[in-house]
Amino acid sequence: MAFTEDDVPDLTGRTVLVTGASSGLGLENARALARRGAHVVLATRDPDRTATATARIQRAVPDASLEHLPLDLADLASVRGAVAAMRAQHDRLDVLIANAGVMGTPARTTVDGFELQMGVNHLGHAALVAGLLPLLAAAPRPRVVVVTSEMARAGQVDPATLGRPAVPHRPWRAYAASKLANLLYTAALAERLAQADAAVVVASAHPGYAATDLQTRGPALGGGALARSRARLLGAATSLLAQPAAAGALPQLRAATDPTVRPGSAWGPARGMRGAPVEVTPPPRARDRALAAALLARTEELTGVTHRTG
Ligand SMILES: NC(=O)c1ccc[n+]([C@@H]2O[C@H](COP(=O)([O-])OP(=O)(O)OC[C@H]3O[C@@H](n4cnc5c(N)ncnc54)[C@H](OP(=O)(O)O)[C@@H]3O)[C@@H](O)[C@H]2O)c1
Repeated sequence: MAFTEDDVPDLTGRTVLVTGASSGLGLENARALARRGAHVVLATRDPDRTATATARIQRAVPDASLEHLPLDLADLASVRGAVAAMRAQHDRLDVLIANAGVMGTPARTTVDGFELQMGVNHLGHAALVAGLLPLLAAAPRPRVVVVTSEMARAGQVDPATLGRPAVPHRPWRAYAASKLANLLYTAALAERLAQADAAVVVASAHPGYAATDLQTRGPALGGGALARSRARLLGAATSLLAQPAAAGALPQLRAATDPTVRPGSAWGPARGMRGAPVEVTPPPRARDRALAAALLARTEELTGVTHRTG
């Protein structure tokens, strides 16, 4: 039987944090988790988009328990602020879904000087996860889900140059690298936590191809007629070919809540770009343990964090 939102167990009393809950897959996750009784922390950066998302969730789930945590993953000071706020307001966190992302963006850097896609999709999330590990470790069956993409198959990562803007900038190459980094990070963190005998389960999930804002917003960031027409083209292809956002959100929902999920496992649609959420095999490059360990070490250096549960 295919996993659906109805298979999410009762989450009453559980606290779940979703990054990028203002649209797309994150919004679908937040709604589905609130529906099953979780207290959902919407970790987002834009107050207006967050208010719109909150209203949408409340229309679908009138008794939703929601909280807004300001978070800009393109700014490590903002990530540190979000960690401090969570630690001040909560004594445990049951699930963290590292979902927010940007794709196909023009040459841009984060506040800390990282290439934008690596900075937001991987480095900012790693700093958030590291900061919240002690709260996660205080929960009975804690879980971290790292959202990746099939584009990771085309990715290449060199820890020595992680986050460094490439010249010339290749938007899709940078996106693929950030999504491979998500997978390598999941593998290395799962191994680190196993060595420390920590109960936190870390898994990855990808949505296949889902109709969200992702395909248009990143490319449009460049401004100008060419960027706008490219974004329009991608938007048109997406509305024809992609599965609905709620279907694309199921692999991460399953990775976040199915009791059978193992540390380091990967989840995605059964038919690659669409279909029911099942366990999948990450691409060979994502299974390179030495590369994964080197990426985690470099990630900690660049972000100034250490992944410890205590
Ligand atoms: N849709 C697909 O087909 C697809 C395929 C493979 C992987 N994915 C992955 O799925 C995840 C979710 O994407 P989506 O498709 O749902 O796209 P989306 O609708 O564009 O949502 C992206 C979310 O990320 C947030 N975000 C972007 N930059 C941020 C920052 N600096 N700090 C905090 N939040 C930030 C956005 O917030 P704002 O509202 O403030 O912009 C938005 O909530 C991403 O990791 C993406 O790589 C999606």
